Amino acid sequence: MHPAQVAQRFRDYFGVEPKLFSAPGRVNLIGEHTDYNDGFVMPAAIGYRTHVAISPRADGQLIIRSQQAPEAFEIDLERLPARGVGQWSDYVLGVAVMLKQRGCLLHGANILVDGEVPIGAGLSSSAALEVASALAFLSLNETSLSLPEIAKLCQKVENVFVGARVGIMDQFVSCLAKAGHALLLDCRSLEWRLVPIPGSVRLVICNTMVKHALSTGEYNRRREQCDEGVRLLSKKYPEIRALRDVSLEQLEGSRSLLPKVVYKRCAHIVRENLRVLEAEAALATGDLNGFGELMRQSHQSLRDLYEVSCEELDLMVESAERLPGYWGGRMTGGGFGGCTVNLVNAESAPAFAEQIAARYHARTKIHPDLYICSSVDGVQAEMDAVPQPR
Ligand code: GLA
Repeated sequence: MHPAQVAQRFRDYFGVEPKLFSAPGRVNLIGEHTDYNDGFVMPAAIGYRTHVAISPRADGQLIIRSQQAPEAFEIDLERLPARGVGQWSDYVLGVAVMLKQRGCLLHGANILVDGEVPIGAGLSSSAALEVASALAFLSLNETSLSLPEIAKLCQKVENVFVGARVGIMDQFVSCLAKAGHALLLDCRSLEWRLVPIPGSVRLVICNTMVKHALSTGEYNRRREQCDEGVRLLSKKYPEIRALRDVSLEQLEGSRSLLPKVVYKRCAHIVRENLRVLEAEAALATGDLNGFGELMRQSHQSLRDLYEVSCEELDLMVESAERLPGYWGGRMTGGGFGGCTVNLVNAESAPAFAEQIAARYHARTKIHPDLYICSSVDGVQAEMDAVPQPR
C-alpha cells in the first residue's frame, strides 16, 4: 500500500494525522549463519517495506493495529509484558519494552502497521517491523539513537522478548542499507562497508513456498554446535573466542579433537567467512562470474556441512543452472525452506523468473513466488504521506 493510503487508513481508524516510517526486508547475498559467530555477512535491502504510522496518545495506552490482521491490541504503557505471546504484535511491543527500559518511551501511541514484506519467506519481515517501529517510537518521544544502536535494540527484542537467538544481520541491514549497494558487515566490530552492485544486476528471489516447522529448534541447535566447536578449539588455542577467530589451518589441524558433526559446522563457518571477503572483492571489481561461483559454493556448504537446506531449496538452486543471464545463486536466510537468491542479468531477469518457476513447478507441483529486486535504502521517515491539496 502506498504511504498516502496507509496515512488515510490511519485517519479513518484514529481520526488524527500520523507520522510515517518504513523499513525494508532483506536478502542475504552471502555469509550465512556467520553473524552469530562474530563473522562477516553481505546482505542487501529489498524493495518490500513495512510501514508504521504513529500518533501520540495522552492516556498512556498503546493501540496497535495492522492492515494484515483483524485484531487490535490495546495495552497500558505501565503494564507492558516481559515476554512475547507469539503474535505479530510482539515485534512492536518488544520494541516498546526495550525502549522503555532505556528511558526512551514516555508517551502512549496509536499505531498502524502495513507490511509488504512476504511473511515467513525468510526475507526478514519481523526485522522490518521492529526497525520501523523503533524509529516511529523514537520520533514520537523526541529521542534519537544511532542506527547501529537501533539495530542492536531490535536484535535484543528477538533474543529476549520473542525468544529467537538470531544474530544482528537482519536488523542491521534494515537500518543501514543503501540503494544500489550490498552491505558488508563485520558482526563483531559492527564496522560496515557498502559494496556497489552493478546496475546490470538483478537479485531474483525465488520462494520455495516451503516453511519447515523445525527451523527455530534447528537454528538454536546449530548455535550450540558452534559454541561447542569454540569450547573445544579454545582448549588448544586459548585466543579463540568465536569461530570467526579460527583459521583453516587451525581447524584442519584439530579435526581429531572435534566430533564429526561439530567439525562440519565449523568447516562451514570458517570457509563461509573467507568466501564473504572474496565475494566483496569480486563484486567490487565487477567479477560477477566469480561472485556467482562463491554463491554456489556457499549453497553446497550449507547443504552438506551446515545441513540447513532442504529438498525444495536444492531443487530451486539446480533449476537456475544454465538459464540465460544467470551468474549464480544459493539458499538465503536461516534455511529449511524459504527463498533462494539469484544473481541475474537485468535484461534476462523476467525470462529467468518465468523459466525457473516452470522448472520448479514441473518437479514439485508447487507454484513459487518470484521477486525481481534491486537493492534499496534502509529505514526512513516518509514525508510524502502528507495529504496533497485537492
Ligand atoms: C536468520 C537470522 C540471522 C542469520 C540468518 C542466517 O535470518 O535472523 O541473524 O543468522 O538466519 O544467516
